[in-house]
Amino acid sequence: MGHIVIENLRKEYIDRRRRRRSGDDPDACTGDCVLVLDDINLEFGEGEMVCILGPSGCGKSTMLRIMAGFDRAFSGNITINGRKITGPSSDNIFVFQHTALLPWMTVRENVGLGLRGLKNEEERDARIHEYIEMVELEGFEERYPYQLSGGMLRRAELARALAVNPDTLFMDEPFTGLDFLTHMKMREEVVNMHLFLGKTTIVVTHDIDDALMMGDRVVILSGRPANVKMSQKLDFPRPRDFRENPELGELRNEVFFMLGVNYAI
Ligand SMILES: Nc1ncnc2c1ncn2[C@@H]1O[C@H](COP(=O)(O)OP(=O)(O)O)[C@@H](O)[C@H]1O
Ligand SMILES: [Mg+2]
Repeated sequence: MGHIVIENLRKEYIDRRRRRRSGDDPDACTGDCVLVLDDINLEFGEGEMVCILGPSGCGKSTMLRIMAGFDRAFSGNITINGRKITGPSSDNIFVFQHTALLPWMTVRENVGLGLRGLKNEEERDARIHEYIEMVELEGFEERYPYQLSGGMLRRAELARALAVNPDTLFMDEPFTGLDFLTHMKMREEVVNMHLFLGKTTIVVTHDIDDALMMGDRVVILSGRPANVKMSQKLDFPRPRDFRENPELGELRNEVFFMLGVNYAI
């Protein structure tokens, strides 16, 4: 079940628009390459819920895409369960991104997408139903994405990812754009899902409270080029409340400070 080791991960993007023009400072960075990830070393345990924080544009999505096997132009070593990643694998890993549902398919068809390999139709229907029930979308199976609210869309995406039964789930800013209450409910749902299914879950977020409320571990990346500023296990009991747990409150202040905010609110 999803034991991930990242060693000396480095990633550069080739940026063809950054050629030196005459008159530019000759000492300025004039290369074609933008260094995004600079020597990242991390280890995530089996079944761990890891929340990755970092300033906008530091390389969080890049790192997630690399871990999920979608981007192979990097240097360093990444293994999942001791095996090098060679590409995206829907058997083991599935990326859950917002707006990833296919608009011309119903909820049932979208959730069933990853199960096309299952030849037994009864088994496939049962699996689809199981996950639709888990995310409380019964009754909406025949709806199309445009007929769903933001929160329902995220639920459907979660069901689609879970139906594949991956060892590891990668989520990139899964709650962005949701209203406050839906955000809180989805957060609760993802935590419950994680407690229930025990899958290694890597969540990229810019929301410090999401990270501290959900994570078994919080990772903080520096600004670009990103390296690891903090990787800390969170052993706080759930449900967590930073107002009642002084140690958690202190850590929260520290995280705010590390991300450039002096007064946590
Ligand atoms: N395909 C690309 N080509 C060139 N630069 C890119 C590309 N994708 C992302 N970048 C740059 O890499 C940096 C990190 O991007 P990203 O991983 O999306 O950041 P984050 O998810 O932390 O906001 C950004 O500065 C972005 O402009
Ligand atoms: Mg991103």
